[in-house]
Amino acid sequence: MSKITPYNSGESKKEQVGKMFDNIAKSYDFLNHSLSFGMDYYWRRKAINCLTNNPKKILDIATGTADFAISSSKIKDANIIGIDISEGMINVGIEKIKKKGLENRIKLQIADSENLPFPDNNFDAMTAGFGVRNFENFDKGLSEMYRTLKSGGIVAILEPSKPKKFPLKQFYDIYFHHVLPFFGKLISKDKSAYTYLTNSVDAFPNGENFINHLKIAGFTNCKHIPLTFGIVDLYIAIK
Ligand SMILES: C[S@@+](CC[C@H](N)C(=O)[O-])C[C@H]1O[C@@H](n2cnc3c(N)ncnc32)[C@H](O)[C@@H]1O
Repeated sequence: MSKITPYNSGESKKEQVGKMFDNIAKSYDFLNHSLSFGMDYYWRRKAINCLTNNPKKILDIATGTADFAISSSKIKDANIIGIDISEGMINVGIEKIKKKGLENRIKLQIADSENLPFPDNNFDAMTAGFGVRNFENFDKGLSEMYRTLKSGGIVAILEPSKPKKFPLKQFYDIYFHHVLPFFGKLISKDKSAYTYLTNSVDAFPNGENFINHLKIAGFTNCKHIPLTFGIVDLYIAIK
């Protein structure tokens, strides 16, 4: 279980993570799209293509600025709820949804993934983009996802990862541990946020290890799909 925290301030991980995303909310989208060279759109599209059960009710966990929720609105007749603990991130998301005229399809609200304010068996599908790693207790978050998903519902989770093969591994290590935190700090003006990003990815269980956590939460048919030479992992699982 990752207890890597952004500020080492003595507050809970949840409080620190919420504050960190409030701090970087305004620069998040720019940094996300530029530091991933725009590939984040492709990763979310790939994940949404795996929601093959024609979902009408989708929950986007740790929605942030709502990019995953907005991508899910491509699914015909789907209504989407996005939840997040950071008011700053949600506010940016609400503005984007208004600009796209998607207010009738997507609703955002402040809520904690580890204590979801929804009844059991409520959603046809769930997405979680780059959020699970940030939870205080991600096993609790996974079991809340399982509880609120309908039987037969599909969950799609994206998490950053690292390539394992030479020479990409060595090249990416330099980018991930030096270039990315340097530009992250410069542009977001938060000294710790992008160092936290790299440390939390290093500490997060990936591949088969994460699949085991999904199985413990109750999910079946769990699949791990590495994307873009393994710099991102897509996990698909069914309740
Ligand atoms: C890296 S951002 C990802 C945003 C978005 N999903 C995306 O794909 O770009 C991670 C988000 O997780 C949220 N988060 C972290 N812990 C959370 C929790 N326990 N409950 C809800 N949201 C949480 C943060 O506030 C932040 O907005």
